Amino acid sequence: MANNRILRFHAPDKVFHSVNAITWFALLFTGVYVYFCEPEAACAEATMLAHLILGVVFTFNLLGFIVLAPDRFALILRACLEWDRNTIFWFRNFGGYPRRFFKIPFGPVEVPPQGRYNGGQKASYLLFMGMIAALTVTGWMLWIGAPLLGKAVFLWTFYFHVWGSIIVSVLVVCAHIPLALLSMEHFKGIWRLGPGTISVEAAEHHAPLWFERDVIRTNIEK
Ligand code: HEM
Repeated sequence: MANNRILRFHAPDKVFHSVNAITWFALLFTGVYVYFCEPEAACAEATMLAHLILGVVFTFNLLGFIVLAPDRFALILRACLEWDRNTIFWFRNFGGYPRRFFKIPFGPVEVPPQGRYNGGQKASYLLFMGMIAALTVTGWMLWIGAPLLGKAVFLWTFYFHVWGSIIVSVLVVCAHIPLALLSMEHFKGIWRLGPGTISVEAAEHHAPLWFERDVIRTNIEK
């Protein structure tokens, strides 16, 4: 905890998240452009080629993270799958956000202390990780596997790929990004080119159980 900072995001977390976020939006724009804007044939073809190349980068980013940093992938997954009483109770007042931002007196005033991620983050990160995997699989099915699919399977896979990606993108833009901006420490920690550290204050404030259980104890054991 040199200089009162805590390492929250290791290099593989940062690389995976940044490449994933950039390619996600590039894939979204190229896909939406071809599907909804009906460009002329040559333009549609060039944009689809860009979409496929981006899809390959997106795929290898996910596989690279799992294969090269299995411990980090497992840590994030484990933190998302740990649903204790405090996690469930986070949903009684949605972390106090309705009261704080919209003056809606929803649920108790106190927010129960949270671990590495709060209840809302756990639910949304599970959805995001699941969709990253599902969009990768359906993308390859629609590209390489198309001749093997029946017409109905192809169509359902296509609609899932298009609408699933759009629905999750709406969640990312309307919830994940604005909420991420609430803590500039976390925002800078995951996005900056330097170390993925956050301040002790930010860790104590946003994730007191993680700070107490994992950060302090790990340092003592070391
Ligand atoms: C410009 C867009 C984005 C911004 C500003 C952003 C910001 C952030 C921030 C600040 C965190 C850290 C939260 C914390 O640890 O408390 C985070 C984590 C995460 N984000 Fe994003 N994000 C963006 C795009 C995306 C996209 C497109 C996805 C996937 C659909 C995504 C999935 C995730 C996941 C799974 C985590 C947890 C990973 C970890 O803790 O290492 N993000 N994001």
